[in-house]
Amino acid sequence: MLLLTKKDLQKAITMPEAIDIVEKAFTAFSTGRAAVPIRTQVEVAEKEAVALYMPGFIPDLGALGVKIVSVFPQNISLEIPTISSLVVLNDPETGQPAAAMEGGWLTALRTGAASGAATRHLARRDAAIAAIIGAGIQSRTQLESLLCERDIREVRVYDVSPHRTRAYIEDMQEYLGKPGLAFTPASSAVEAVAGADIICCATTSKKPVFPGNKIKPGAHINAVGSFTPEMQEIGEDVLSKADKVVVDSLEAVLSETGDLIIPIKKSLFRKEDIYGELGEIGGGTKKGRENEAEITLFKTVGLSVQDMAVGIHVLKKARELGLGREFDFHA
Ligand SMILES: NC(=O)c1ccc[n+]([C@@H]2O[C@H](COP(=O)([O-])OP(=O)(O)OC[C@H]3O[C@@H](n4cnc5c(N)ncnc54)[C@H](O)[C@@H]3O)[C@@H](O)[C@H]2O)c1
Repeated sequence: MLLLTKKDLQKAITMPEAIDIVEKAFTAFSTGRAAVPIRTQVEVAEKEAVALYMPGFIPDLGALGVKIVSVFPQNISLEIPTISSLVVLNDPETGQPAAAMEGGWLTALRTGAASGAATRHLARRDAAIAAIIGAGIQSRTQLESLLCERDIREVRVYDVSPHRTRAYIEDMQEYLGKPGLAFTPASSAVEAVAGADIICCATTSKKPVFPGNKIKPGAHINAVGSFTPEMQEIGEDVLSKADKVVVDSLEAVLSETGDLIIPIKKSLFRKEDIYGELGEIGGGTKKGRENEAEITLFKTVGLSVQDMAVGIHVLKKARELGLGREFDFHA
């Protein structure tokens, strides 16, 4: 079995590659060419945390395996990541474990890539101003993926912690090395989203993080944070402003995210109001953005097809490049 560290992964895949891979994985999912059972969630109530077990199989790619991912929001006070994860791939011919790889970086990469693919199909082509709500790990790859798809000139960043906003801006300026890209720390979410062309939300908030009345016509929103029925990062006022609400998986969002479950329970939104899955748009059976004024929203809770598709790409590349370390459990 091949063991792969975060550094190995970073040598094996880039964000533009991940966006293409995740786009195709969503299409495989939406056209019934992937087996993705709803993930199992185990609550760790005393830590307000959850561990998720996410199996998946994409026969066309030979990608079979499981991701174990834990979300411990209180880790923020320990200055360690909220999300930790391990991805295990099996050989689809024999079922034997083929690889185990660091999953935290992979999760951030594939989650950014999902928003990149959504941005490709749903954002205006001339989108130039991005608002980033939440300045954590996911928001870093959210921005990286936007820059792959659109010519973003200005980035407004808002986090409840001004210290984290500042750290985000410093890190991203250094990582991206784009002196022409202007970063502005926003003093409120309203200030960040007013006039923004693309809004990315990746917070651990249980309550809506910005009001619908500040969204400009033509804006696109990527909503990443909420993954339990109690968490509502996007308010119903935002949903009702959106002309197209697109999701990663109808089944998953309707069972996992308060962004949709809460408004549906209050009869302020209906599941029939969901336009479709991103995989249907990527596969060409539904249209993406159709005019300059549409407000579009992509809600993702995250699917194992993203992890399996990115994981198998990384494994193949690692074998080509001689990365990683073999480990024999039977030795
Ligand atoms: N959709 C997916 O596929 C997917 C994948 C990974 C993570 N997530 C979810 O995304 C969320 C963020 O993950 P992360 O790893 O970036 O966590 P993180 O802890 O690194 O960052 C979260 C940030 O949100 C900020 N925040 C909290 N409430 C806020 C509010 N009301 N307004 C502005 N900022 C606020 C926090 O201060 C923190 O900086 C989590 O809920 C996680 O479970 C979703």
